[in-house]
Amino acid sequence: MKKDQASSTAFTVAQGVLYIAKHTPHARLVSDEMKTATQQILSATEEGQRRLRLLQSVIFPRLVPLIERLTLPGITLNYVLRKSYIQTCVQQAIDEGAQQVIVLGAGFDTLAFRYAKKYPEVNFIEIDHPATHIVKREALESATGQLKNLHFIPVDFTTQRLEDVLSASPLAQPELPTVITIEGVLMYLTVEQVQHLFASLPIFLHNGRRVVFTATNPGATTFGPLLRIYLKLKAEPLKWTCDKNEMEAFVNAAGYEFKQLAGVPEFKEAFFPNDSRRKLNEVEYVAVADKDWATAP
Ligand SMILES: C[S@@+](CC[C@H](N)C(=O)[O-])C[C@H]1O[C@@H](n2cnc3c(N)ncnc32)[C@H](O)[C@@H]1O
Repeated sequence: MKKDQASSTAFTVAQGVLYIAKHTPHARLVSDEMKTATQQILSATEEGQRRLRLLQSVIFPRLVPLIERLTLPGITLNYVLRKSYIQTCVQQAIDEGAQQVIVLGAGFDTLAFRYAKKYPEVNFIEIDHPATHIVKREALESATGQLKNLHFIPVDFTTQRLEDVLSASPLAQPELPTVITIEGVLMYLTVEQVQHLFASLPIFLHNGRRVVFTATNPGATTFGPLLRIYLKLKAEPLKWTCDKNEMEAFVNAAGYEFKQLAGVPEFKEAFFPNDSRRKLNEVEYVAVADKDWATAP
């Protein structure tokens, strides 16, 4: 991403969430709280306001299916499905005893913000590039100021090591059982950076980690002709992908226990149980991996 600008793809994901909520039959997948918080974040910047205006226009919502066909078919609904699935995984981890939630590359996602209100006893940390972070912090300032358990730590993964930043911060608590989410981020890192990220988490977190993350499946995903050009222009080129069938081996090689994976069949079962004909495109899938995960008594 461009060093001095908030992530363009973070804006795109937030805009996509609101598109699903406002212009599709899948609005039920976006809660009112999620919609309000996402709108609040976008309203705080000129670029966000431009995205909101596009959503209100007559033409843009009609163009979304075409834009998807040229870039990544099915991506907008995928944002909402993967977010809902990740939320369920985080909920389950908290029910099993997680006392800290770390969201890596949080962008304009609202899970930590919403859950910090719901679980005041859990420590929530958002980690993101400083340029993206500052936009979100300012947008949510009045509300986050009252939330003593939601913290923001800026990190540039290309120049800083996560374990160094976490170790230096008094806000992260190494002894707490922790669930870490990494959504829509790993594809922008090299395979070496992804491996290092997984290896570095246990260095800092001492008591049980569950990682809930998304990955792009190169085999099944239909990339539209303009996707790579678009991401290159935005300085967020795709670097790491992982075939769904190879994810378990990848997780094991990183020293973690593979727990579950959710792609199209699992999303259909979870979100469209009475609609067996529903067609979903394989875009990003969710994987869950544990390291020394100790369940709550
Ligand atoms: C596609 S957005 C995903 C945002 C969010 N996780 C979601 O899915 O809604 C990618 C995120 O990765 C972050 N990111 C990209 N490059 C980064 C870097 N070098 N260091 C830290 N964060 C980075 C961006 O700031 C952005 O928030």
